[in-house]
Amino acid sequence: MPISGDVYKQIGRSAAGAVSIVAAYDRTSDRIVGLTASSFVTLSFDPPLVMFAIQHSTGSYVSMVSSKSFGVSLLRDTQADVATLFATTGPEKTGKTQFEPGTTLHVPLIPGALAHVECLTNQIFISGDHAIVVGLVEEARTFDGLPLLYFARQYGTFCPLEGS
Ligand SMILES: Cc1cc2nc3c(=O)[nH]c(=O)nc-3n(C[C@H](O)[C@H](O)[C@H](O)COP(=O)(O)O)c2cc1C
Repeated sequence: MPISGDVYKQIGRSAAGAVSIVAAYDRTSDRIVGLTASSFVTLSFDPPLVMFAIQHSTGSYVSMVSSKSFGVSLLRDTQADVATLFATTGPEKTGKTQFEPGTTLHVPLIPGALAHVECLTNQIFISGDHAIVVGLVEEARTFDGLPLLYFARQYGTFCPLEGS
């Protein structure tokens, strides 16, 4: 028998994750859609694939799964305000945000992020109440700094253990 919703939420709170903004241009209106996501991970080295999961009920869902490309901005420790803003729903957040264009693809990126990843949408799998979106990485850049992490409903950053 599957676990209860409460236990499931506890699992989510126990799993620390890097925080990203996943954003794309809506194919019809060319308006930017984007959301805070902790589900972004690298997937395959050859070919270079990454993935994230998006809940069906989000406002960005239709635009995101129909887009031919998307940009991922891995946030740094100073960008918790951006994560909080993009965890709200609705189009106002993109109007309040200055994006920078991808260097290779037509994707919106958050300036000052720890990494920028420009992807062509490669595959979409519907799984439960989420879609898993797989992207082929066409361009990526990383910068020095510390990551923004999410754990136990709080933002924080990485601190290496002594001697590790
Ligand atoms: C730290 C954090 C991580 C999140 N990760 C995801 C995620 O991976 N996938 C997802 O669908 N929603 C995720 N969310 C929730 C979305 O950011 C939230 O539902 C947002 O309001 C969606 O925006 P939209 O409705 O404008 O699309 C996360 C929220 C937080 C605070």
